[in-house]
Amino acid sequence: MYDLIPSSPEGFLVISHIMTMQSNGIIRIAVQRSGRLSEGSLNLLRSMGLQFETYQNRLFTTCRNMPVDILSLRDDDIPEYVQDGIADLGIVGSNLLDENSATVERLLPLDFGYCTLALAVPEQNSIQSVCGLSGKKIATSYPNTLKRYLAQKEINAEVIVLRGCVEIAPALRIADAICDLVSTGSTLRTNRLRILETVSRNQAVLIRTPRPSPAKQKIIGKLLLRASGVREARVFKYIMFNLPARKLKDVKTLVPGCDSPTVMPLADPQMIAVHSVVEEERFWEVVERIKECGGSGILVTPIEKFIR
Ligand code: PRP
Ligand code: ZN
Repeated sequence: MYDLIPSSPEGFLVISHIMTMQSNGIIRIAVQRSGRLSEGSLNLLRSMGLQFETYQNRLFTTCRNMPVDILSLRDDDIPEYVQDGIADLGIVGSNLLDENSATVERLLPLDFGYCTLALAVPEQNSIQSVCGLSGKKIATSYPNTLKRYLAQKEINAEVIVLRGCVEIAPALRIADAICDLVSTGSTLRTNRLRILETVSRNQAVLIRTPRPSPAKQKIIGKLLLRASGVREARVFKYIMFNLPARKLKDVKTLVPGCDSPTVMPLADPQMIAVHSVVEEERFWEVVERIKECGGSGILVTPIEKFIR
C-alpha cells in the first residue's frame, strides 16, 4: 500500500489523480519531495536540459520542452511507485533500494547524495563497538538492512521501527542506539550521537520501471544518455599540458582519455601538447606523475557535458 504523504488534502488529491490518469506516453520522473536528494535531483534534471518550474514544494510539474512530468514524492515511496509504473523513472538513494523489495531496474549511479547508513549511540554511552549492542534496542527506518547486518555479525539486538525522527529515540529512551543515514553529520551532532560503525555506503541512483512501453523506452533511452553525460562531466576534468615528446609513451597510459589522448606539435620540435580527460578522484596523482615526466603548463578545466 502507498503511504500518501504529504497527507494534506492537496497531496492526496494530486497523487490519487496521478494514479488514475493516463500518462499518454509522457514520462513521469519521481524525485524526493523535501530532503537530502531534492536539490541534487532537480539540478540533475535541469542539467539534462529539462525546462520546468518548481516552487513551494509543488507535487507535480510539467516540463516545457520534453514530454516529461516531475512528481515530488516522499522518497520512501518512490521504489514502489516506479515498480508499479505510476512513475517511469525515479531518483532515490541506494539505501532505499537495499531496504525495499520493490522490483525496479537500477539504470545509473548518479554521483551525488552520498551518505552512509550508520549505527550510532549517545556520545556519553559506554558502548565502544557493535558487539556491545547485544541485548540492546536499536531504532531505525531501515529494519531489513539492519536485521541483515546484525545477523551477519551475529548480534542479537531488538530492532525498533520508526518512520522518522529516529535520531531522537535515545533521548526519549525508546532505544539505546540508532541506525540512520548520515550525510553531513549535522543531525548526529545536534542530537549528541557518535558513530559506532558504518552499515552501508550509498549514493543517489536513477531507477526505471521494469516494463516500459516501447514508445516510452525510446524517451527513457534519450534521458539516460543525457543523465550519463551530466554524470561523466562531473566525474571527469579536461586536462592540457606540455611534455617532452620522448616522454609520450610514459604519459599515454596515465591519461588514456576516451580512446587515446590528443597530441599536438609545439613550435619547439622536442615538445608536444597533450589534451585528455581525467577522473577527478585520480587527478592529483596523475598531475604528480605528469610533473615527474617533465610535464609543464598543466591546465585543467571543468567539462560541461561528456558523451562517450
Ligand atoms: C536523512 C536522515 C537524517 C538526515 C541526515 O534523511 O534521516 O535526517 O538525512 O543527514 P545529515 O547527516 O546531513 O544531518 P533524508 O533526507 O534521507 O529523509 P527522510 O526524512 O526520509 O529520512
Ligand atoms: Zn525517507
